[in-house]
Amino acid sequence: MEKNVTDFKSCLKPMPDILVSCRSKDGEDNALAVRYAGNCSYNPPMIMVGIVPSRHSYNMIKETGVFVVNLVSEDQREQYAYLGSRSGRDEDKLKALGMNVGEGVKVNAPLLLDSPVSIECKVVDSIMTGSHEMFVGKVEYVHAKEDLIKENGSIDYSKIDLLKFR
Ligand SMILES: Cc1cc2nc3c(=O)[nH]c(=O)nc-3n(C[C@H](O)[C@H](O)[C@H](O)COP(=O)(O)O)c2cc1C
Repeated sequence: MEKNVTDFKSCLKPMPDILVSCRSKDGEDNALAVRYAGNCSYNPPMIMVGIVPSRHSYNMIKETGVFVVNLVSEDQREQYAYLGSRSGRDEDKLKALGMNVGEGVKVNAPLLLDSPVSIECKVVDSIMTGSHEMFVGKVEYVHAKEDLIKENGSIDYSKIDLLKFR
């Protein structure tokens, strides 16, 4: 006999584990763990990320209108847990972790250089869905480690040991 599901929260699985990096208008860099994210347009390529307004990163993305989606490999688990549990309001998380940070090519935001893939995005729209604001970002530039890029210019995801946080 079928039982009723009563907990509707986050029932779409699997969810990706990504790090969203961003910069304030004063040049402060930050990153947070995000699972509410996905592709939302094929042409033009767009990605949406869901950020809760109480996050320190929220104001940064609101202010600058740009963010970077960084894919996370299993060997970045500790960094992911830290960036997903501490706030940039209280400390410079990227510095505390000694993370390698680079500069966006098309957007004024930091790249997480330890990530296998980093996707630069410009916010073109957003919608307050409830707990999260979904920021729709147009993909402006994609960085990937050289050995991950195939002859045709696409990414060989089979070579990445993507983090499954829990
Ligand atoms: C596995 C995991 C997934 C998370 N997903 C989201 C998310 O989708 N959106 C969000 O706003 N916060 C999410 N968080 C929480 C933020 O990463 C966390 O509150 C972080 O400390 C915020 O950092 P900030 O205040 O420096 O922006 C997640 C945390 C974890 C551990």
